[in-house]
Amino acid sequence: MRRTRPERREPSGWLPLLCCLTVASIFAPAIAAEPAEPSAVELIEGLLSGKAPVGGPFELTDHTGHRRTDVDFRGKLVVLYFGYTSCPDVCPTELQAITLALDKLGTAADRVQPLFVTVDPERDTPARLADFISAFDPRFVALTGAMPAIRKAALAYRVYFAKAATTAESYPVDHTGFVYLVGADGRYLGFLPPGLAPDAIADAIRAQLQPK
Ligand code: NI
Repeated sequence: MRRTRPERREPSGWLPLLCCLTVASIFAPAIAAEPAEPSAVELIEGLLSGKAPVGGPFELTDHTGHRRTDVDFRGKLVVLYFGYTSCPDVCPTELQAITLALDKLGTAADRVQPLFVTVDPERDTPARLADFISAFDPRFVALTGAMPAIRKAALAYRVYFAKAATTAESYPVDHTGFVYLVGADGRYLGFLPPGLAPDAIADAIRAQLQPK
């Protein structure tokens, strides 16, 4: 079944690959970001070209309040998504697609670890994450942390994110929405574009679970 998509994901080129990211925020000087940080374009180009390193260690707090590192998830194929619980449409849709993909995999999904890392740690407490992911696959682990730790993890995966410049309590966070696959040995395997149908996500995961 086709899902409805926000209009801003319709243009050609790589713009549709951005989750919740407005065109203005790409080309405007970064308001929230520190000066030395790479731009959205640099991050995305590095990811798409396959020339930039992707992935790396992280140390964060899960939705039950426990400290977790990347090493904790060795032995499983990690399906990793960065987003935030207040995201109006794209993040919940993507987590739902991952959930449906894991359903389709049946028992093979026991070898998969879905991870959700917030890019909005100010609002996304462990309790809030627990509430949010309870709507999705029960194997999901959601991670938050201090902003420097979140930023480090996001930059490692070349995730662009920026809190919108507003004083409103219901601020959006612009962010890229790729789905990352990380091998049981912790090595980055590749990314899936946002908005992929559950069948395609399941196929991509199944291919990585095959013995090589
Ligand atoms: Ni989102």
